[in-house]
Amino acid sequence: MSIKLIVTKNYQEMSDEAFKVMKEVVTSKPDAILGLATGSSPIGLYKNMINDHVANGTSYSKIKTVNLDEYVGLGAESDQSYVYFMHDNLFNHIDVKEENVNLPNGKAADMDAECARYTALLATMQQDVQLLGIGANGHIGFNEPGTPFASTTNIVKLKDKTRQDNARFFASLDEVPTHAITMGIANVMNAKKILLVANGKNKADAIKAMVEGPVTEECPASILQRHADVVLIVDEDAASKLSK
Ligand code: F6R
Repeated sequence: MSIKLIVTKNYQEMSDEAFKVMKEVVTSKPDAILGLATGSSPIGLYKNMINDHVANGTSYSKIKTVNLDEYVGLGAESDQSYVYFMHDNLFNHIDVKEENVNLPNGKAADMDAECARYTALLATMQQDVQLLGIGANGHIGFNEPGTPFASTTNIVKLKDKTRQDNARFFASLDEVPTHAITMGIANVMNAKKILLVANGKNKADAIKAMVEGPVTEECPASILQRHADVVLIVDEDAASKLSK
């Protein structure tokens, strides 16, 4: 197994360690392809990237990005959409070119065709690094427990737990979309490097299952045990159930 584990005191340190990994990729390969994620976990990393861009001029002008996922039915006009999140938290504040930014389109007229388009795109864009968070149930992207490891971009019916976890971003649980479009697990595993960040006690079971549990589709993140280059950065709370 090649999971390199870094345990940090808190969220800020987690974000600082993650930034070191990201900065190394971006400076060693200025035209790198970055696989990106949304949610609470990467916000501190994105802030570090923005601060570094402003202070040190680190450029993203040749960088291309591919995001993990999007809610079905939401687009850039909705401030709950992932395309909105990415612009608000990162893209609007660095010099990445809009034409180099890629997310699955949650409002495509034909979502099956959109899955095929995104999978075909990913086949031409191997991620130099894929940033991930992890769901409390071990999901990566929106690939919920039970998703085949061989999956490519797919439409997911969100589990109640995931909708409840994400309800904090919406006015009410009813407003949380019921479906999402996500890069599949095979698309994630195709990345040259994986950078997974997690913080908080509610992630401790998922981190334990990912690192120490059996490799099983019941914990999608457990497949990362079979990836050649994973950097896992967790705060003490998220690491608290690991046995070593
Ligand atoms: C986000 C994504 C999800 C999140 C996960 C953790 O693009 O694909 O897998 O990474 O749900 O979310 P947070 O970071 O909000 O705890």
